[in-house]
Amino acid sequence: MTQSVSQQHDLVQILFEQQFQRSAEIVCHAPGRVNLIGDHTDYNDGFVLPAAINYGTTIAASKRKDNIVKVYAHDCEKQISEFSLNEIEFDEQMMWSNYVKGSLQALLKNFPDINGANLVVSGNVPQGAGLSSSASFEIAILKTFTQLYQLDLDGVTAALMGQQAENNFVGCNCGIMDQLISAMGQQGHAMLLDCKDLSFEDAPIPDDLSLFIVNSNVKRGLVDSEYNLRREQCEKVAKYFDATALRDVTLAQLNSAKEQLEPVLFKRARHVISENERAVATLKALKANDIALISVAMRASHISLRDDFEVTTKEMDGLVEMIDEVLGDKGGVRMTGGGFGGCVVALVPSNLVTQVNDVVIKQYESQFDLKPSIYLCTATQGAFR
Ligand code: GLA
Repeated sequence: MTQSVSQQHDLVQILFEQQFQRSAEIVCHAPGRVNLIGDHTDYNDGFVLPAAINYGTTIAASKRKDNIVKVYAHDCEKQISEFSLNEIEFDEQMMWSNYVKGSLQALLKNFPDINGANLVVSGNVPQGAGLSSSASFEIAILKTFTQLYQLDLDGVTAALMGQQAENNFVGCNCGIMDQLISAMGQQGHAMLLDCKDLSFEDAPIPDDLSLFIVNSNVKRGLVDSEYNLRREQCEKVAKYFDATALRDVTLAQLNSAKEQLEPVLFKRARHVISENERAVATLKALKANDIALISVAMRASHISLRDDFEVTTKEMDGLVEMIDEVLGDKGGVRMTGGGFGGCVVALVPSNLVTQVNDVVIKQYESQFDLKPSIYLCTATQGAFR
C-alpha cells in the first residue's frame, strides 16, 4: 500500500520495458472497493452500498500475434505465468494467475477471436483484507483486453465475467458487488446497487466525511468455506419460503416462521433482510447529509454481522467500539466486506480524523497485540465508467 496509483502507473511501464524490451501499448487500472453498508446481501439479490477506492491493480500491456498470455506479477514474488488461450488450466502453484485465467476464460466466451498479450501487473490493495484485491485484478485484466483489442464490452458485463472467474474457476461463490463497483464506481460517490436487476444509483459522499479504513491485520482464516456456508444457509431459508432469494422475504414473514426455522438459520436471514433495509436507508441519509442516521445504520449493521451473521472477529469488534466511542452520532463505523478478519470502515468528519487515528494507534495494539494499518481513502472512478 505504499505506492500511489500514479506511481504504480510509472512502475508498470518501467517494468514492462525491462521484461519485454519494448514500451507497453497501454496502461489500465481498476480500483479495489470498500463497502459502506450492505454486507452478505449481494448473493441474496439484495442491496449494497460500496465505493471504489484509490487503491487498485495496474497493468501495462501490449498485444501479441499468437495466443499466448505472458504475465509478470510484480507483487507476487515477481512470478511469471505463461499460458495459451487455447488451453486454460487451473494453476495450483501460482494461485494469483487463476484470476487472470478465469477472467479470460469468461471473456473468450463472448470474444473468441482475441489474441494473447504481454502483461505486467502491480497492485496496492492489501491482499486478503476485504478490500477486493481480487475483483480489482479481474476487472483490470478485462479492461486491458477490452482496450487492447477494442472490444465492445460494457462494465456490467465485465463485472459478470469477473464474478464467473471467481465462481467457476477460482471456486469462491461470491456475489456481484466487488466486480461491479470496481467497473462502475463514480468518483466522490458511493453506489447503491440492486443486486437483483443490477441497476444502480450513485450517491455523493458528503465532502466533509472521510473514508477512514483500518485493517485489523488479522489473518483471515476459513474465509471461503465459511463464506460458502453462509450462502447455503441463506438459500435454505429462501427455499423454505419458496422464494428465489431472501430479498423477496419480509421481516414479518420471517418472524412468523421463527418456531419452524433452526435458530441459526433464523438469525442469518434476519441479518440479510434487515441489512437490505439499512442499505436503502443509508442511501437516503447520504443524499440528505443526515450523519446521525448513517451512524445508527452502520452501528446496527455491525451488531447484526457480529451477532446474527457471526462473521466478525474480536479485533474487528474492538476497533469498531473504540472508533464509535470517538464518533458518537457524528460519523459511522462498521466491519466491511466478507468478514472473518480484514478491515473496518468509518465515515469520519474531517475535524475528528486525527482523534480517531490517535485512538486506533494508541488502543488497538495494546488491546490486541497487533499493529493496525490505516488508509485514508477517496472514492474513485471505476475502470469502465
Ligand atoms: C465478499 C464477496 C462479495 C460480498 C461480500 C460480503 O467481498 O466477494 O460478493 O458477498 O464478501 O458483503
